[in-house]
Amino acid sequence: MRRLLFATNNPGKQREIRRILDGLPFEVVFPADIGLALDPEESGRTFEENAFLKAEAFASAAPGLMVAAEDSGLVVPALGGEPGVHSARYGGTRDNEAHNAMLVEKMKGLGEGERNAYYEAVVALISETGERLAVSGRVHGEIAREPKGSGGFGYDPIFFSRELGCTFGEAPAEEKDRLSHRGKALRALRRALEALA
Ligand code: IMP
Repeated sequence: MRRLLFATNNPGKQREIRRILDGLPFEVVFPADIGLALDPEESGRTFEENAFLKAEAFASAAPGLMVAAEDSGLVVPALGGEPGVHSARYGGTRDNEAHNAMLVEKMKGLGEGERNAYYEAVVALISETGERLAVSGRVHGEIAREPKGSGGFGYDPIFFSRELGCTFGEAPAEEKDRLSHRGKALRALRRALEALA
């Protein structure tokens, strides 16, 4: 079976990737599964640039493997697009609870209509022969006034989905997958991989 190296070490993302790519005729492996320990610098200005920076770094380290990498984050237009590409290290820390507390605090001065936010995910794929493809997804919601729920990961407890009537932290995993930025991007990736299989 052809192997697909999915270049992420984030356990929350890995769970979603496993669920959504399940049943494809590709063996999905993560860096630790093949003994790769790389942490490429994410110096791009967009999710797509960062997704390709990660995919390229892993493709050079694992020649002959098809490589996918994902970059994603939360965008709050009323805060000038923060945290955006800095989502994983917002405020200089990797502590998710601190990220959520900081964002809830910053939103306090804003009006009702300014709580809108969206998640975006871009997946970059580099084939064994160097062909490149990018797919993406977005989901819109708003920043909650306080964290709720312990499902998902990262900003999910403060990402309120109007469609679900609750935060992604409170939503069952399948409901998040159905609506989420990563769900959309990974289903587009799935279709592209089915065409390659
Ligand atoms: P990356 O690993 O640089 O792509 O970082 C993505 C960061 O964006 C994560 O560490 C989270 O903080 C945030 N993020 C992306 N997708 C999600 C999601 O589905 N739920 C919650 N937070 C997310």
